[in-house]
Amino acid sequence: MKKLRVDLGKNSYDIIIGKGHMSKIGDYIESRGGKVFIISDTNVAPIFANTVMDSLIEKGYDCKLMVLEAGEPTKNIKSIYPIYSSMLEFNLTRKDLVVTLGGGVIGDLGGFVAATYLRGVDFVQVPTSLLAQVDSSVGGKVAVDLPEGKNLVGAFYQPKLVFIDTDALYDLPEKYYIDGMAEVIKYGCIKDAHLFEKLEKINSREEFMQNAEEIIYTCCDIKRKVVEADEKDNGERMLLNFGHTYGHAIEKYYKFTGYSHGQAVAIGMAFICEISERLGQTKSGVKDRLVAILKRYGLPVSDSVRACDVLPAIYNDKKNFGKQLNAVLIEDIGKSFIFPTTAEYFLK
Ligand SMILES: NC(=O)c1ccc[n+]([C@@H]2O[C@H](COP(=O)([O-])OP(=O)(O)OC[C@H]3O[C@@H](n4cnc5c(N)ncnc54)[C@H](O)[C@@H]3O)[C@@H](O)[C@H]2O)c1
Ligand SMILES: [Zn+2]
Repeated sequence: MKKLRVDLGKNSYDIIIGKGHMSKIGDYIESRGGKVFIISDTNVAPIFANTVMDSLIEKGYDCKLMVLEAGEPTKNIKSIYPIYSSMLEFNLTRKDLVVTLGGGVIGDLGGFVAATYLRGVDFVQVPTSLLAQVDSSVGGKVAVDLPEGKNLVGAFYQPKLVFIDTDALYDLPEKYYIDGMAEVIKYGCIKDAHLFEKLEKINSREEFMQNAEEIIYTCCDIKRKVVEADEKDNGERMLLNFGHTYGHAIEKYYKFTGYSHGQAVAIGMAFICEISERLGQTKSGVKDRLVAILKRYGLPVSDSVRACDVLPAIYNDKKNFGKQLNAVLIEDIGKSFIFPTTAEYFLK
């Protein structure tokens, strides 16, 4: 078992990372009111909810499980009211606890519910997808989607604990494993050459699983440091957006039906790296290494759409202030920086 502490003053919390320890979750959880409201989805609940509930019941907690339809459409403002209703019916108070058991959809949605129910109840993230374990469960960004776009209503609301069982990934469908790998590779690119080299040597998902505890620990540690330096996302945290500006634009261009998020980010990373290397901002050979590793993990590295057609989507990205655009570039593997430019950079 490995432990990290995210140091954010009164919002500090631990990340516990272990292998096969889901049944021990009760040892780590504290609900002062004695009730725990668990939110999960239709894929994850049948595999893990009983284990989690048994462990909590054994510790004397009164538990209620709410299972939502798996998938992004659930992360919607419309899903919220029935959850509040169910919490009220359960008499959940501000001393009690919410547990989100699932991927990023459940973590973001459940975290938003926890942030807003009775002006905020404590919550614990139990991420079960690779993306959620290395990215979305850490950092306190919680949100729901609106018909107008993704993550348009949300909050910065840190969990009290992030509890990760890497063995949960044995059940994760391959396409979500590949999707999460894009973010894992991203961490190597922006902050950790050693992680990148390790990933270059891994030959199969089995081999990844043998190293999962260490790799996930490394990713969470990188995210921890970035979040500690910039909790509210005004500076350092932008580095996490490597490959994301163009990636988001590609996702949008195809109306979120062409590529998954990880695939789009993979294309975005390869794309920006190609430009920055050509302009001499990235060490020569880095792009080839990046492309090779993305392919190795089954990720796409290019798309036939022309950048000029994708540009309007970049201009509309809410993360860009006015026409200035903060491009995240890598100087070398493991060394990233923010380069203030404009969207025209993508046409170079
Ligand atoms: N808050 C943040 O900082 C942040 C960062 C990145 C992404 N996100 C959000 O995360 C969401 C995507 O997360 P995701 O990729 O985890 O999607 P997801 O929650 O939909 O999970 C992917 C799929 O895998 C299933 N699943 C999850 N764990 C499983 C397991 N162990 N075994 C079997 N099936 C399992 C889920 O039911 C779902 O079908 C998006 O909404 C995105 O906006 C948030
Ligand atoms: Zn991402």
